[in-house]
Amino acid sequence: MDVRVAKPSRLRLDGGEVHLWWGRGDAAQDLDALLAWLSDEERRRAERFRRARDARAFLFRRAFRRSVLARYAGVGPGELAFETGAHGKPCLSAPHERVLFNASSSGPWALVAVSAGHELGVDVERADERFLGLEELARLARRVLTEAEQAALGRLPAPARARAFLRAWTRKEALLKALGTGLSREPGTVEVGLGPLSTPPVLDLCAPPGYTASLALGAPGSSPAPGAPRWSVALKRMALPGFTRPGGPCR
Ligand SMILES: CC(C)(COP(=O)(O)OP(=O)(O)OC[C@H]1O[C@@H](n2cnc3c(N)ncnc32)[C@H](O)[C@@H]1OP(=O)(O)O)[C@@H](O)C(=O)NCCC(=O)NCCS
Repeated sequence: MDVRVAKPSRLRLDGGEVHLWWGRGDAAQDLDALLAWLSDEERRRAERFRRARDARAFLFRRAFRRSVLARYAGVGPGELAFETGAHGKPCLSAPHERVLFNASSSGPWALVAVSAGHELGVDVERADERFLGLEELARLARRVLTEAEQAALGRLPAPARARAFLRAWTRKEALLKALGTGLSREPGTVEVGLGPLSTPPVLDLCAPPGYTASLALGAPGSSPAPGAPRWSVALKRMALPGFTRPGGPCR
């Protein structure tokens, strides 16, 4: 199999730009080749998965993440070192700490967003509405939506509710990941709405069929950017084989 090692020729980002990279991890892949890029800690973590499938998924998403970030750091994927914040948000260690990123995965898909100027959060989720009956939906809505969002959900026709809920959920998770707290902060404390989004810091992405994805932008530091920051989102080409190309922002 052809595993292309990212060359240390740097990709550049301007301050308002976000690059999105999608990878698909179920193509036949020589994981041994990717293993070489991982740290000892990552390899130990991979060994702790009980199911081989989960270990493979972990290896893929970490190798993918390295392969993408190496292009911006200008070093090989195996040369990158990571640190984590108070709630587990990963970032690159010095001297590459100015390459900001966030990652999410679901099913075979891995998504990495990269920025030079803003903290980011991304979330991709399988949008399987069949498992969300109306009662379950109402229960989840009370747990994670704000009152205004719950009211908006209640006003939708019943068949549209599950999709709207899943969309709001990915927006919230992306936003909480941009803030760095992840789900250690109650999702019901951030408002993302259910309707079309007109302003950042949250953007719906065109995910692969059957998935939903969102991107959120934070200011440098820990709070979301005030007002509507100028940003543009670009889809970049895939770093590993097996790539099919989902979209960028939904317009
Ligand atoms: C991050 C979190 C939202 C993951 O959600 P998920 O839908 O299961 O998984 P996703 O694929 O979307 O995201 C996972 C990735 O988010 C990133 N991540 C982890 N913690 C994060 C945080 N606090 N903020 C932003 N991103 C985070 C990592 O890159 C992680 O990838 P990894 O599993 O390869 O390490 C959830 O686990 C969480 O809220 N964790 C933080 C709170 C917590 O429990 N902290 C305890 C550790 S200190």
